Amino acid sequence: KKVALAFSGGLDTTVCVPILEEEYGYDEVIGVTVDVGQPEEEFEEAYETAEALGLDHYVIDAKQEFAQLCLDSVCANADYQGYPLGTALARPVIAQAILDLAQEEGCDGIAHGCTGKGNDQLRFEAVWRASDLEVIAPVREMGMTREWEIEYAAEKDLPVQGGNEGVWSIDTNLWSRSIEGGNLEDPSYVPPEDIYEWTDQPTGETELVEIEFEDGYPVAIDGEAMEPLELISHLNEKAGSYGVGRTDMMEDRMLGLKVRENYEHPAATTLLNAHKALEGLVLTKEERDFKATVDNEWSQKAYEGLIDAPLVGALNAFLETTQERVTGTVTIKFEGGQARPVGRESEYAAYSESAASFNTETVDGIEQADATGVAKYHGFQARLANQSAAQKEKP
Ligand code: ARG
Ligand code: SIN
Repeated sequence: KKVALAFSGGLDTTVCVPILEEEYGYDEVIGVTVDVGQPEEEFEEAYETAEALGLDHYVIDAKQEFAQLCLDSVCANADYQGYPLGTALARPVIAQAILDLAQEEGCDGIAHGCTGKGNDQLRFEAVWRASDLEVIAPVREMGMTREWEIEYAAEKDLPVQGGNEGVWSIDTNLWSRSIEGGNLEDPSYVPPEDIYEWTDQPTGETELVEIEFEDGYPVAIDGEAMEPLELISHLNEKAGSYGVGRTDMMEDRMLGLKVRENYEHPAATTLLNAHKALEGLVLTKEERDFKATVDNEWSQKAYEGLIDAPLVGALNAFLETTQERVTGTVTIKFEGGQARPVGRESEYAAYSESAASFNTETVDGIEQADATGVAKYHGFQARLANQSAAQKEKP
């Protein structure tokens, strides 16, 4: 019997390798790492650990596909309670890539090292349970704790690295870096500066960048056309150097548990802010109001790892229509850890400078005095209601 394991080379997934043989009766385990833009060191850790374990190890490159999905999420202004959904968006991509490989390789089972407390177990299994492979979650099913894992690894002489993995539980991809666990589980604990790797402590320096959008998608920075992967990486560097995109939050997980989470996401913050600023210029008020609901539903499903749900397909149709006019350029100022929109322009602006200006009298045949009738009616119902209420209060 053969099983494919989602493998990162971290503690959880390393422990899963012998466990799948000993406890689940598999003769052959293959480890699969999916590249969604993790840093080089993580691959080295995975390679080295796989080699030391004698594990058959596959790496699948899903960076382009993932980058595209990140930019789809920008069209939906997607965040969950303020966090730009990096981990959540990556999971279905990773799960599908592993499932495809497991089926090609004729596996009987498919396994992950997620705990029974988090979101990731649900996101992986939502994809995997569409197949008839045996889905295995050893950490959850055997009730493992990190302490137990460390002891077991020592007993079995497994190649687990001390490193950061022992202190924080970190999940990194192109869109965000998440840091949790250890002292951070105490919501009052102030994180030391060294938990951050993508963002520098903000200084007094500032910089302007111009981001060009086409149909809702960012396509160029400062006049230079870039592919999604390059564009996001470029902004992570640049915005990160100004300390942009840190989130320290209490997150309500799908199971209902609250957890303390820290995130870094410089490119995501920059692109989301720029995109919202451009929508502010081109969309009508009705579109903006309704789109906030659509964006919220999209984000909720994305958080749940259900971007292939029929509802999301329907929401995407709405997004696509509205994004047809989200073409133009936004100027962002990096300043004090913020990425603030400071200018926007579009040929599709639903804005008339002469109509809004205090310096013009007549626009499209409408003059200031025409507002008098509107002003007389404005608040009419409220005035009536308040007057009758005042009558009643009199003894
Ligand atoms: N709670 C986040 C989410 O559900 C991210 C968790 C990432 N995992 C980690 N070990 N840091 O999207
Ligand atoms: C885990 O619990 O395995 C990681 C965190 C999460 O899934 O939310």
